[in-house]
Amino acid sequence: MPDPNSAALEFMLSRRSRPAKTLMPPVPTHEELRPILTAAARTPDHGKLEPWRFIVIEGAAMARLADLAEARGAALGKSSEDIAKARNQFDQGHLAVAVIEVQKPSEKIPPVEQTYSAGAVCLALLNTALASGWGANWLSGWVSHDRRFCEDGLHLAANESIAGLIHIGTERSAPPERPRPDLDSITEWCDA
Ligand SMILES: Cc1cc2nc3c(=O)[nH]c(=O)nc-3n(C[C@H](O)[C@H](O)[C@H](O)COP(=O)(O)O)c2cc1C
Repeated sequence: MPDPNSAALEFMLSRRSRPAKTLMPPVPTHEELRPILTAAARTPDHGKLEPWRFIVIEGAAMARLADLAEARGAALGKSSEDIAKARNQFDQGHLAVAVIEVQKPSEKIPPVEQTYSAGAVCLALLNTALASGWGANWLSGWVSHDRRFCEDGLHLAANESIAGLIHIGTERSAPPERPRPDLDSITEWCDA
Protein backbone atom coordinates (compact mmCIF):
# COMPACT_ATOMS: atom_id res chain seq x y z
CA MET A 1 0.00 0.00 0.00
CA PRO A 2 1.31 3.51 -0.77
CA ASP A 3 2.29 5.54 2.28
CA PRO A 4 1.57 9.11 1.12
CA ASN A 5 3.57 12.09 2.31
CA SER A 6 0.56 14.38 2.78
CA ALA A 7 2.55 17.57 3.35
CA ALA A 8 4.62 17.02 0.19
CA LEU A 9 1.49 16.22 -1.83
CA GLU A 10 -0.33 19.27 -0.53
CA PHE A 11 2.68 21.41 -1.41
CA MET A 12 2.90 20.03 -4.96
CA LEU A 13 -0.83 20.56 -5.53
CA SER A 14 -0.74 24.19 -4.38
CA ARG A 15 2.78 25.43 -5.19
CA ARG A 16 2.98 28.78 -6.98
CA SER A 17 5.84 31.05 -8.04
CA ARG A 18 6.09 34.56 -6.57
CA PRO A 19 6.78 37.28 -9.18
CA ALA A 20 10.45 38.30 -8.95
CA LYS A 21 9.62 42.02 -8.82
CA THR A 22 7.67 41.46 -5.57
CA LEU A 23 10.59 39.74 -3.79
CA MET A 24 12.36 41.77 -1.11
CA PRO A 25 15.14 41.33 1.45
CA PRO A 26 15.86 39.47 3.56
CA VAL A 27 17.21 36.84 1.19
CA PRO A 28 18.58 33.47 2.31
CA THR A 29 22.00 33.45 3.89
CA HIS A 30 24.65 31.14 2.45
CA GLU A 31 23.87 28.68 5.26
CA GLU A 32 20.15 28.83 4.46
CA LEU A 33 20.84 28.43 0.75
CA ARG A 34 23.06 25.35 1.10
CA PRO A 35 20.25 22.83 1.83
CA ILE A 36 18.16 24.37 -0.96
CA LEU A 37 21.01 23.90 -3.44
CA THR A 38 21.69 20.42 -2.05
CA ALA A 39 18.07 19.42 -2.68
CA ALA A 40 18.17 20.93 -6.18
CA ALA A 41 21.27 18.90 -7.01
CA ARG A 42 19.36 15.77 -5.98
CA THR A 43 17.78 15.68 -9.42
CA PRO A 44 17.46 12.85 -11.95
CA ASP A 45 20.61 12.83 -14.08
CA HIS A 46 20.98 10.00 -16.62
CA GLY A 47 24.49 8.57 -16.40
CA LYS A 48 25.49 10.68 -13.36
CA LEU A 49 27.03 13.29 -15.65
CA GLU A 50 26.10 16.23 -13.38
CA PRO A 51 25.38 18.41 -16.42
CA TRP A 52 24.74 21.51 -14.32
CA ARG A 53 26.23 23.79 -11.68
CA PHE A 54 25.18 26.88 -9.72
CA ILE A 55 26.28 30.52 -9.69
CA VAL A 56 24.80 32.49 -6.78
CA ILE A 57 24.33 36.11 -7.86
CA GLU A 58 24.15 38.65 -5.04
CA GLY A 59 25.39 42.03 -3.89
CA ALA A 60 27.49 44.02 -6.35
CA ALA A 61 27.16 41.27 -8.98
CA MET A 62 23.51 42.31 -9.48
CA ALA A 63 24.50 45.89 -10.33
CA ARG A 64 27.30 44.68 -12.63
CA LEU A 65 24.89 42.39 -14.52
CA ALA A 66 22.28 45.18 -14.77
CA ASP A 67 24.88 47.40 -16.46
CA LEU A 68 25.97 44.56 -18.76
CA ALA A 69 22.35 43.80 -19.71
CA GLU A 70 21.89 47.43 -20.72
CA ALA A 71 25.14 47.50 -22.70
CA ARG A 72 24.34 44.24 -24.50
CA GLY A 73 20.81 45.42 -25.27
CA ALA A 74 22.16 48.60 -26.84
CA ALA A 75 24.78 46.66 -28.84
CA LEU A 76 22.10 44.26 -30.11
CA GLY A 77 19.73 47.10 -31.05
CA LYS A 78 17.04 46.00 -28.60
CA SER A 79 14.08 48.28 -27.92
CA SER A 80 14.24 50.53 -24.86
CA GLU A 81 11.44 48.40 -23.37
CA ASP A 82 13.43 45.17 -23.81
CA ILE A 83 16.54 46.81 -22.39
CA ALA A 84 14.67 48.14 -19.36
CA LYS A 85 13.08 44.74 -18.70
CA ALA A 86 16.46 42.99 -18.87
CA ARG A 87 18.06 45.62 -16.62
CA ASN A 88 15.20 45.50 -14.11
CA GLN A 89 15.68 41.78 -13.51
CA PHE A 90 19.04 42.60 -11.90
CA ASP A 91 18.29 46.12 -10.62
CA GLN A 92 15.29 44.78 -8.68
CA GLY A 93 16.93 41.46 -7.78
CA HIS A 94 18.52 40.78 -4.40
CA LEU A 95 19.62 37.17 -4.83
CA ALA A 96 19.35 34.82 -7.81
CA VAL A 97 20.81 31.42 -8.51
CA ALA A 98 21.87 30.93 -12.11
CA VAL A 99 21.44 27.25 -12.94
CA ILE A 100 24.12 26.57 -15.52
CA GLU A 101 23.64 23.73 -17.97
CA VAL A 102 27.03 22.08 -18.51
CA GLN A 103 26.95 19.81 -21.55
CA LYS A 104 29.20 16.80 -20.94
CA PRO A 105 30.60 14.63 -23.74
CA SER A 106 28.86 11.24 -23.66
CA GLU A 107 28.32 8.43 -26.14
CA LYS A 108 25.30 7.25 -24.18
CA ILE A 109 23.45 10.35 -22.95
CA PRO A 110 22.18 12.68 -25.71
CA PRO A 111 22.52 16.45 -25.20
CA VAL A 112 18.75 16.89 -24.92
CA GLU A 113 18.62 14.64 -21.85
CA GLN A 114 21.25 16.83 -20.21
CA THR A 115 19.10 19.86 -21.05
CA TYR A 116 16.05 18.20 -19.50
CA SER A 117 18.05 17.44 -16.36
CA ALA A 118 19.18 21.08 -16.08
CA GLY A 119 15.54 22.20 -16.41
CA ALA A 120 14.60 19.71 -13.71
CA VAL A 121 17.26 21.23 -11.43
CA CYS A 122 15.65 24.65 -11.97
CA LEU A 123 12.25 23.34 -10.90
CA ALA A 124 13.69 21.46 -7.92
CA LEU A 125 15.48 24.63 -6.81
CA LEU A 126 12.33 26.73 -7.27
CA ASN A 127 10.19 24.22 -5.36
CA THR A 128 12.68 23.74 -2.54
CA ALA A 129 12.99 27.51 -2.07
CA LEU A 130 9.18 27.81 -2.00
CA ALA A 131 8.86 24.86 0.39
CA SER A 132 11.44 26.54 2.63
CA GLY A 133 9.13 29.55 2.95
CA TRP A 134 10.90 31.87 0.52
CA GLY A 135 9.32 33.53 -2.48
CA ALA A 136 10.95 32.37 -5.71
CA ASN A 137 10.61 32.85 -9.45
CA TRP A 138 12.26 31.20 -12.49
CA LEU A 139 13.23 33.86 -15.03
CA SER A 140 15.22 33.85 -18.26
CA GLY A 141 14.85 36.83 -20.60
CA TRP A 142 16.88 37.46 -23.73
CA VAL A 143 20.07 37.98 -21.71
CA SER A 144 20.02 34.28 -20.76
CA HIS A 145 20.44 33.38 -24.40
CA ASP A 146 23.00 36.04 -25.31
CA ARG A 147 26.45 34.41 -25.49
CA ARG A 148 28.29 37.63 -24.77
CA PHE A 149 26.20 38.23 -21.65
CA CYS A 150 26.88 34.65 -20.50
CA GLU A 151 30.61 34.85 -21.20
CA ASP A 152 31.33 38.40 -20.03
CA GLY A 153 28.87 38.40 -17.14
CA LEU A 154 29.15 34.88 -15.74
CA HIS A 155 32.34 33.60 -17.44
CA LEU A 156 30.56 30.60 -18.95
CA ALA A 157 32.59 28.16 -21.06
CA ALA A 158 31.58 27.13 -24.59
CA ASN A 159 29.73 24.02 -23.32
CA GLU A 160 27.76 26.03 -20.75
CA SER A 161 24.53 28.00 -20.92
CA ILE A 162 21.96 29.48 -18.55
CA ALA A 163 19.09 27.07 -17.86
CA GLY A 164 17.37 29.49 -15.52
CA LEU A 165 17.79 32.42 -13.16
CA ILE A 166 15.97 31.52 -9.96
CA HIS A 167 15.27 34.66 -7.94
CA ILE A 168 14.76 34.06 -4.22
CA GLY A 169 13.65 36.48 -1.52
CA THR A 170 10.91 37.40 0.90
CA GLU A 171 7.45 37.72 -0.58
CA ARG A 172 5.39 40.82 0.11
CA SER A 173 2.04 39.35 -0.91
CA ALA A 174 0.85 36.06 -2.34
CA PRO A 175 -0.14 36.37 -6.02
CA PRO A 176 -3.57 35.26 -7.23
CA GLU A 177 -3.79 31.72 -8.56
CA ARG A 178 -2.74 31.28 -12.18
CA PRO A 179 -5.06 29.36 -14.54
CA ARG A 180 -3.93 25.74 -14.67
CA PRO A 181 -4.22 23.27 -17.54
CA ASP A 182 -7.35 21.21 -18.02
CA LEU A 183 -6.03 17.75 -17.16
CA ASP A 184 -8.32 15.90 -19.57
CA SER A 185 -7.16 18.00 -22.53
CA ILE A 186 -3.48 17.18 -21.92
CA THR A 187 -3.80 13.55 -20.83
CA GLU A 188 -4.24 10.45 -22.95
CA TRP A 189 -4.79 7.13 -21.19
CA CYS A 190 -3.14 4.54 -23.41
CA ASP A 191 -3.98 0.96 -22.47
CA ALA A 192 -4.01 -0.91 -25.75
C1 LIG B 1 12.30 28.38 -18.75
C2 LIG B 1 11.41 29.43 -18.17
C3 LIG B 1 11.75 30.76 -18.33
C4 LIG B 1 10.92 31.77 -17.84
N1 LIG B 1 11.28 33.07 -18.00
C5 LIG B 1 10.47 34.05 -17.57
C6 LIG B 1 10.84 35.42 -17.74
O1 LIG B 1 11.91 35.73 -18.23
N2 LIG B 1 9.95 36.36 -17.32
C7 LIG B 1 8.74 36.03 -16.76
O2 LIG B 1 7.97 36.91 -16.41
N3 LIG B 1 8.39 34.74 -16.56
C8 LIG B 1 9.23 33.75 -16.96
N4 LIG B 1 8.87 32.44 -16.77
C9 LIG B 1 7.59 32.11 -16.15
C10 LIG B 1 7.64 32.33 -14.66
O3 LIG B 1 8.56 31.45 -14.05
C11 LIG B 1 6.24 32.15 -14.11
O4 LIG B 1 6.17 32.87 -12.94
C12 LIG B 1 5.87 30.73 -13.85
O5 LIG B 1 5.75 30.03 -15.05
C13 LIG B 1 4.64 30.56 -12.99
O6 LIG B 1 4.58 29.22 -12.66
P1 LIG B 1 4.05 28.63 -11.28
O7 LIG B 1 3.10 29.57 -10.70
O8 LIG B 1 3.46 27.32 -11.68
O9 LIG B 1 5.23 28.41 -10.39
C14 LIG B 1 9.72 31.41 -17.20
C15 LIG B 1 9.39 30.07 -17.01
C16 LIG B 1 10.23 29.09 -17.49
C17 LIG B 1 9.84 27.63 -17.27
